Amino acid sequence: MPIHALNRAWFLETPQSSYALGVTATGHLQHWHWGAKIAPTDLGQMRPVLIRSFSPIPADGPEMFSPDTMPAEFPSASGADFRSPAVEVELADGTACLDLRYQSHRLIAGKTPIEGLPSTYVEHEEEASTLQIELLDAPSQIAAILSYTAFTGHDAIARSVRIENRGTKPVRLKRVFCASIDLPEASAERWLHLAGSWARETGVNIAPLGPGCQSIASRRGVSSHQHNPFFALLGHGAKEEQGEVWGFSLVYSGNFLATVERDQFALTRAQIGINPEGFAWQLLPGASFQAPEVVLVYSAAGLGAMSRTYHRLFRTRLLRGPLRDTLRPIALNNWESTYFTFDAPTILALAQQARALGAELLMLDDGWFGKRDDDKSSLGDWTPHARKLPDGLRAMVDGVRATGVEFGLWFEPEMVSPDSELLRAHPDWTIHSAARRPSLGRNQLILDFGRAEVRDEIYRRIAAILHSAPITYLKWDMNRHLTEVASVGLPPERQGEAAHRHVLGVYAFLERLTAEFPQLCIENCAGGGGRFDPGMLAYTQLTWISDNTDAISRLSIQLGASLVYPLSVMGAHYSAVPNHQVGRVTPPATRGAVAAGCVLGIMLDPAKLATEERAELARWIERHKAWRPLLASGELHRLKDPRQGAEAAWMIVAPDQSEALVFHVRILAEPHGPFQRLRLYGLNPDWVYRDTATGESWRGDALMRHGWIFPDTGDFAAHHWHLRRAD
Ligand code: GLA
Repeated sequence: MPIHALNRAWFLETPQSSYALGVTATGHLQHWHWGAKIAPTDLGQMRPVLIRSFSPIPADGPEMFSPDTMPAEFPSASGADFRSPAVEVELADGTACLDLRYQSHRLIAGKTPIEGLPSTYVEHEEEASTLQIELLDAPSQIAAILSYTAFTGHDAIARSVRIENRGTKPVRLKRVFCASIDLPEASAERWLHLAGSWARETGVNIAPLGPGCQSIASRRGVSSHQHNPFFALLGHGAKEEQGEVWGFSLVYSGNFLATVERDQFALTRAQIGINPEGFAWQLLPGASFQAPEVVLVYSAAGLGAMSRTYHRLFRTRLLRGPLRDTLRPIALNNWESTYFTFDAPTILALAQQARALGAELLMLDDGWFGKRDDDKSSLGDWTPHARKLPDGLRAMVDGVRATGVEFGLWFEPEMVSPDSELLRAHPDWTIHSAARRPSLGRNQLILDFGRAEVRDEIYRRIAAILHSAPITYLKWDMNRHLTEVASVGLPPERQGEAAHRHVLGVYAFLERLTAEFPQLCIENCAGGGGRFDPGMLAYTQLTWISDNTDAISRLSIQLGASLVYPLSVMGAHYSAVPNHQVGRVTPPATRGAVAAGCVLGIMLDPAKLATEERAELARWIERHKAWRPLLASGELHRLKDPRQGAEAAWMIVAPDQSEALVFHVRILAEPHGPFQRLRLYGLNPDWVYRDTATGESWRGDALMRHGWIFPDTGDFAAHHWHLRRAD
């Protein structure tokens, strides 16, 4: 049992970490420890809560105790703790005081699902233990049920919280963070988060922690291109392969806030959850609110070990369904070769080309429906475009399949064009404020998926299409953000629920879709990586992580995203040069190497390639096929950071260390520079590894402790090695 109880204190154990919390004499829940393993012991005694000047003392508390200085486990608003609260409730009398005290707890074998929200899971009870602690504010009868799951096979703790109104009057929940952790003095020095923009997602940002609050957030209705719902706290000297790291990953796809507060005594309070801005949830007597899960990962061996824990856990216990462990198909997507201008023969020709190269699927992107010839119309009218597909969708799908590849189709289920039959029939189905004219984004509006009747109708239309033809792949896109957020389906006192209800609606839709079409491979996309988060990972097999297909840009985007997400769920396409987003010309070998370590796809017209490049692309497809099993289960080591200078390198090692793939990309060549050495990680030092291309072999210890020096000329030059155990 990885949870040890110790007289109103608990130690949660993962293979290499402990998480401990205890109840104070006053009944407050105190955070004790999250870090390297500690055998259960009374840490409360070792860290008495001492007061300082201006620290308020609870009326019933001992003289020297104040929540003001206590490392708290779930701090509430307007009590005697002046730091950022994890929960804030406006009570029926307009006040917002909440003083949550311990009531009870229970231990559960395994892990129970979170209703209505995606979460990590176990397949067998022995894989985890769960601790549930019930806290109560006696005057208002507001309860918080905190849930902690410790995994036996992963250094991860999943935390979530449910707020219940057990009182007799309605209240408004204004803030609830899924996790709030107070790390002791001088633990974390810096924090890392992933920031960016459209076509420039998941840039790694590391900053020192200063006094006060530092935060990242999304107010866009989706997790966003700008900030990913993830951050890590970094201890002294922490970097890729060393130092203490505490990771926070929120399993949620909507507005979020992550905030790190360094308090007056250098305690670090780290929190993440639904963004309180614009959020308010009415809780009637007897009602409860379930906040999303946050996955906490501690690593004593740097960022690399943290990432590998997230990768293993997310691949096996967040992704779900019968396709979870299957190899993702190599798709040719027509978007950058045709944009909106295509017809059935164009698509069939692309399918033939795809097949000839060894690809496995033709993914028909935007523009196949309604009268959509640009981005100004038809979203919501999910019927085949009469001119482009005159014989209908079934004929298109059959034609494509006759060439020997499967068929995938693009949808933007949450969207509607003002110029559409759908909106003309249902003008009030969008997220909008009745008194205002709605803003347009990419000429489109958002359907109010918080309303069952709206999503049911869209579901009916999309399911009908999926039933009408053998479609094995769906790309779910989302190309604008939520504005003028309001729902005609909600009364005035519930308008603050609209954005979260939209996210819940998307999840409900995806639950239904994956239940009815379990063999459908779903690609998650929101103008690239605008909604690349663990919530969407739970329903989808891969994500189109950026509209930027340039190999050099992709180095930072992919390696940034790999802090928390495995490369094996990231779609990466071999595309044309000059690149459509940045105009850069990179060699085929570089485009191949950067894409083939993720889920390889193609986004160009192969007929337009010179014979030589076509052959090279076919070789990348062949290699990717051979590497796919390794990529799907391998452990990532980031070797050279593209942000640090002129090169990027990373490697993927088989869990049994018998095989590895190593990639190196020189970004800009430097004349007469120092020789560059590449040291590998994760191999078995005592084994000999052979390069499958050249037959050369080296010992693991030499590769890891000494490393290679290799030619360093040429801008954008890529090298790769496939190593196999030789002895
Ligand atoms: C978004 C996606 C692209 C493509 C277009 C189609 O930008 O990210 O991959 O599907 O929409 O309009």
